[in-house]
Amino acid sequence: MTQQARFEGKAVLITGAATGIGRATALAFAREGADVVIGDVDARAEETVQMIASLGARAVFRHTDVRDPHAVNALVAACLDRFGRMDCAFNNAGVLPPQRPIHEVTPEELDLAIDVDFKGVFFAMQAEIRHFLTVGGGAIVNTASVGALIADPNMSAYCAMKHAVAGLTKAAAVEYARANIRTNCIAPGFVVTPMTQHWADSNAFTDMFFAQNISGRAAQPQEIAPTVLHLCSDAASFINGATFVIDGGQTAH
Ligand SMILES: NC(=O)c1ccc[n+]([C@@H]2O[C@H](COP(=O)([O-])OP(=O)(O)OC[C@H]3O[C@@H](n4cnc5c(N)ncnc54)[C@H](O)[C@@H]3O)[C@@H](O)[C@H]2O)c1
Repeated sequence: MTQQARFEGKAVLITGAATGIGRATALAFAREGADVVIGDVDARAEETVQMIASLGARAVFRHTDVRDPHAVNALVAACLDRFGRMDCAFNNAGVLPPQRPIHEVTPEELDLAIDVDFKGVFFAMQAEIRHFLTVGGGAIVNTASVGALIADPNMSAYCAMKHAVAGLTKAAAVEYARANIRTNCIAPGFVVTPMTQHWADSNAFTDMFFAQNISGRAAQPQEIAPTVLHLCSDAASFINGATFVIDGGQTAH
């Protein structure tokens, strides 16, 4: 099998693929033969589906708010209905709440981070694991962040929930390794996406950030996708519970 066909005949579920890292990863899976099911609250996920179709691959979008466990259950069911299988899952949907110091964070902003960035991953994993237990295994990749390893000012709830995602990833590895379910997470640094466009557009921010970081630049979403595919592939058969840092060396410094 060539590398380009690593996911031929397989189906992947991706949350948060309307834009950014999720879209780039959905396209990368499709280029390597996967059928793709996307759950998102943003209708631009339909554009991702069209982009995949233009590659000659198959994808469907189902409106899914990851805060709703019934919706993520239905997303898994949609993957099985449409493609008859689900081999791997990329739990990537996330939000960056308004940035403020801890003493100014509102209860609503805290709930948003908890509900989307943590509970959304938890609910998706529950639905995926229930299925993987019935078919003898599968691979899950969650999107954490360098915020799972270090803290930046004014991002407390986001940072705490990304730490939680890394912890949840280890917990799942511990519970399901013998069931042949591998769970890993990625920890990207600064990636230019709609979530971070306001940083990329700010000279004050980029001057400060790039001066402090050894790579001196931000990543493009396409630089994150290959690690997700690797972690979902058979080549990663002994990788479980790990956090893969993709940050251009930001946290090495
Ligand atoms: N961009 C970065 O620098 C960076 C760094 C580290 C981690 N991340 C993480 O990467 C992931 C993807 O973010 P991105 O940077 O590509 O930004 P993005 O805004 O392009 O993507 C986030 C996606 O999640 C979807 N989403 C948001 N709330 C949702 C909900 N309730 N239900 C379903 N879908 C929902 C959005 O519609 C969007 O498609 C997020 O988990 C983010 O925290 C981003």
